[in-house]
Amino acid sequence: MTERTFSIIKPDATRRNLTGAINAVIEAAGLRIVAQRRVKLTEAQAKKFYEVHAERPFYGELVAQMTAEPVVVQVLQGDNAVLKYRDVMGATNPEKAAEGTIRKQFALSIGENSVHGSDSLENAKIEIEQFFTEDEIVG
Ligand code: CMP
Repeated sequence: MTERTFSIIKPDATRRNLTGAINAVIEAAGLRIVAQRRVKLTEAQAKKFYEVHAERPFYGELVAQMTAEPVVVQVLQGDNAVLKYRDVMGATNPEKAAEGTIRKQFALSIGENSVHGSDSLENAKIEIEQFFTEDEIVG
């Protein structure tokens, strides 16, 4: 089934000029980048986006990292896009990520792990709506 998922290329990656390299991995996997914008997240945006993690010990550092430098927010479209992108990203902890995945290739640590991807179709919809209107997504 054709799905859409939400992706963020995180500050550790934009800082190292890896946007194109990461997009190449995404596209080689058969996912289509149907919306994309480079933006500096506000603290309010980052806090809301990660509010499910508000009680976790890393929440403050996560919000600080995500707002420190620009990110690239994206909508990816394709067959089984949510699960496919999770496979392409690799495990949250880059030490556990499989060969060829984005995090294995580029991530620095569990916090600076280069990309975010939605964990379910339901969350993908919620996350996409935080950053894009329907007319900005050209599938
Ligand atoms: P992400 O997919 O963006 O969702 C939550 C983020 O929290 C996660 O990727 C990591 O970058 C970050 N994070 C930092 N520390 C941890 C941790 N100990 N466990 C899980 N996620 C962490």
